Amino acid sequence: MHPHPTFSVPSTASDWWRDAVFYQIYIRSFADGNGDGVGDLAGIRSRLPYLAELGVDALWITPFYPSPMADHGYDVADPRDVEPVFGDLAEFDALLAEAHERGLRVTVDLVPNHSSHQHAWFQEALAAEPGSPARARYLFRDGRGPDGSEPPNNWPSVFGGPAWTRVSDGQWYLHIFAPEQPDLNFADPEVVADLEKTMRFWLDRGVDGFRIDVAHGMAKPDGLPDMVPMEDTGLLDDHGPGDLRFDQDGVHEVHRRIRAVIDEYPGRMAVGEVWVSDDKRLARYLREDELQLAFNFKLLTAEWTTDDLRDAVTHSLDAVAGTSAPACWVLSNHDRPRHVTRYGGGELGTRRAKAAALLQLALPGAAYLYNGDELGMPDVLLPDEALQDPVWERSGHTERGRDACRVPMPWSGTEASYGFSSHRETWLPMPDGWAPLTAEAQAADPASIQSLYRRALALRASSPAFSGTSLAWLPAPEGCLAFRRPGGLVCLLNLSGHAVPLPEGSVLLASADVGDGSLPDDTAVWLQA
Ligand code: GLC
Repeated sequence: MHPHPTFSVPSTASDWWRDAVFYQIYIRSFADGNGDGVGDLAGIRSRLPYLAELGVDALWITPFYPSPMADHGYDVADPRDVEPVFGDLAEFDALLAEAHERGLRVTVDLVPNHSSHQHAWFQEALAAEPGSPARARYLFRDGRGPDGSEPPNNWPSVFGGPAWTRVSDGQWYLHIFAPEQPDLNFADPEVVADLEKTMRFWLDRGVDGFRIDVAHGMAKPDGLPDMVPMEDTGLLDDHGPGDLRFDQDGVHEVHRRIRAVIDEYPGRMAVGEVWVSDDKRLARYLREDELQLAFNFKLLTAEWTTDDLRDAVTHSLDAVAGTSAPACWVLSNHDRPRHVTRYGGGELGTRRAKAAALLQLALPGAAYLYNGDELGMPDVLLPDEALQDPVWERSGHTERGRDACRVPMPWSGTEASYGFSSHRETWLPMPDGWAPLTAEAQAADPASIQSLYRRALALRASSPAFSGTSLAWLPAPEGCLAFRRPGGLVCLLNLSGHAVPLPEGSVLLASADVGDGSLPDDTAVWLQA
């Protein structure tokens, strides 16, 4: 067994998040406590010992608020309560208290850009007159064309189709995502005040921070003008300049309001989901009075090539260079294909994922792991009839959506549902053949990716080699990347197609056997130099 500080007290530094390792829990798929085939808060609580032993510092739990689940919880009907499928407020409080006892911080998702169509406000808006205060909380407009039967502008929904839906009195409402996710109007003071109320509700309960959904959304340009026509973008696009749905200057005022609330609670933080690829535009979200962290998605979108990976690291560091924020590294999340699959799948994908783990965890700043990264979970090719992501329906069955990366975690045993649930059927089916992937099987195998993560996280937390916030690139053999941290950590990543000699220094950890003094292809090593 691995020694672990089961009841350690979280570090008291108020900027604990600067180099923290966060673990993203996609709640439906992490652990099912009540046997209905859907993950829940009780399931998370039962797995806290596993998370503490793994060695992460903090959790990010995806939305568990009342929701009709049109977008699996990112359509929030009441942001200050718990969806019965996931538990109740008492269960949340128990989870939070126990996590804190075990030294784990807990952050939750905040979904400001839109509500569910089942939110009381939207129901009120539908029943109210055009031009009424109830409609002003959302973005209702008259249509274009002689009889108003054309949408008010040409914006597409991220999930496919137009971003507008018409209601029975002829007006249209804006939804950047699904029609069941009407966009809120952040020019309405009541909307901002309600967001602050939601933040205080969870901060008062003791959460350590928030992950802010669509943090580059919220503000809309005056007059909602047309934008340069583009194909329906899908989530896979970078929302670049000219995409008037995102990254409007007014969004920064919202972030200042968010930060002002955070600052009332010392030691709490917010990380933004900011899909803005321009380094300078991204840096604007990290000004002193805005977000403490913004995901940098460049690693998550990089190909497995030295050029792409080096570029991802350089841009991520450049983006934060003029700010006081650290970089924030992500390899996978619930919206994108998992990196084992992106890197080629199978044995090759896993081998590269192990190397990528050492790359990610050697970089200065905060890191986010997605549940199952530590097991090397791949995407699953699900049968059509199992697909649930709104993208599948809205794209007319041309885009399969994000279900492949959301399959429940395998914990133990040899057949579905592998200890995830007491029920065999799970909300997304679990495939055959996952016995070697389970957390239990991997804990017993020192060569598993899970064992590598445990050792890497333990070293990162304890070794002075990781000190310092900068990174210096080192000369490296063709097809390799090498860098050094001020504390003496050297990370070498080999994509050259053949083994390369180990550099000077004592080996701290390697993603494959380096006993012969060389680093094999598609692997990485940490040295103390
Ligand atoms: C974010 C979430 C994604 C969700 C969308 C709409 O991108 O990560 O899962 O569908 O926002 O809320």
